Amino acid sequence: MKKYKVILTGKTWPEAFEKLKKYCDIKVWEEDTSIPRKILFDWLKDAEGLFSTNDINIDDTLLSHAPKLQVIAQSSVGYDNIDIESCNNRNILVGNTPGVLVDSTANLTFGLLLSSARRIHEGWDYVKKGGWEKDGVNKIYGTELKEKTLGIVGMGSIGSEVAKRAQAFGMNVIYHNRNQRSDEAELKVKYKSLNKLLEDSDFVISLIPLTDSSKKFFGYNQFLKMKPTAYFINASRGGVVDKKGLYRALKEEEIMYAALDVTDPEPINKDDPLLGLSNILITPHIGSATVETRNKMANMSVDNLLAGLKGETMPACINFQ
Ligand code: DGY
Repeated sequence: MKKYKVILTGKTWPEAFEKLKKYCDIKVWEEDTSIPRKILFDWLKDAEGLFSTNDINIDDTLLSHAPKLQVIAQSSVGYDNIDIESCNNRNILVGNTPGVLVDSTANLTFGLLLSSARRIHEGWDYVKKGGWEKDGVNKIYGTELKEKTLGIVGMGSIGSEVAKRAQAFGMNVIYHNRNQRSDEAELKVKYKSLNKLLEDSDFVISLIPLTDSSKKFFGYNQFLKMKPTAYFINASRGGVVDKKGLYRALKEEEIMYAALDVTDPEPINKDDPLLGLSNILITPHIGSATVETRNKMANMSVDNLLAGLKGETMPACINFQ
């Protein structure tokens, strides 16, 4: 049996790897660091399949080193790191992993909201630093969620799951999207213009994908429109936020607090001014990072890769199928 030549830009989970091994000759980047571009250029010379993650910049230059590439299977739902137009021009199929990470990402997103509102991680710092013994807890009072308004910008499948969690805590949910949803009544959510959502929300969650038109979507002017008591949570991509604008809004207390699971760049630079603020919580892009979900994502990527290489319908193809 002919084996397909496939590159893995990082180690993957055993079940997915075994499935791939049956059909493919595999080159894997085993280091914890990101694969150097030069090595990837070299490996791509005869590769037919590429199993990638969203930290790899798959641009036209990289693709020009991959004359035999037929399928890219990216193990994430977001694909802002891939030049889709260039893939289209080269007839390369691109697969992603929608669906399987919805619950875990919604849990983490709502977890950031809850942790910020109730100051959970600050409480832990406070205990470690002796604040509890010294001052009691009156310096870390949080805020309730019941009857507060949550504004979700980017109401797709993850947003809908976040809405359910928020409603279970007694919150009202409003949203803004490019297109108004037809299932508002079922989801118990109301559409608002962006400005109205920013003005009315106690918590604003960003779940918009990063595209050319959503770069720096949230800047100082948007933060100024929010309540001074508002919390801003970003669980989509760091690039949708203007970092300088966010820093200024937090520093000047134009908004109360921010919680980010995503930054630009990733990892965030150690000297980034955001890290010096006390009204922020940053996690290292762990929305889908559970054992169960990452296994499902790896399996789905392998299924995408094998189907694409065999000329079958891929479980999730974002361009040709
Ligand atoms: C995605 O799949 O796009 C999530 O952000 C995890 O990387």
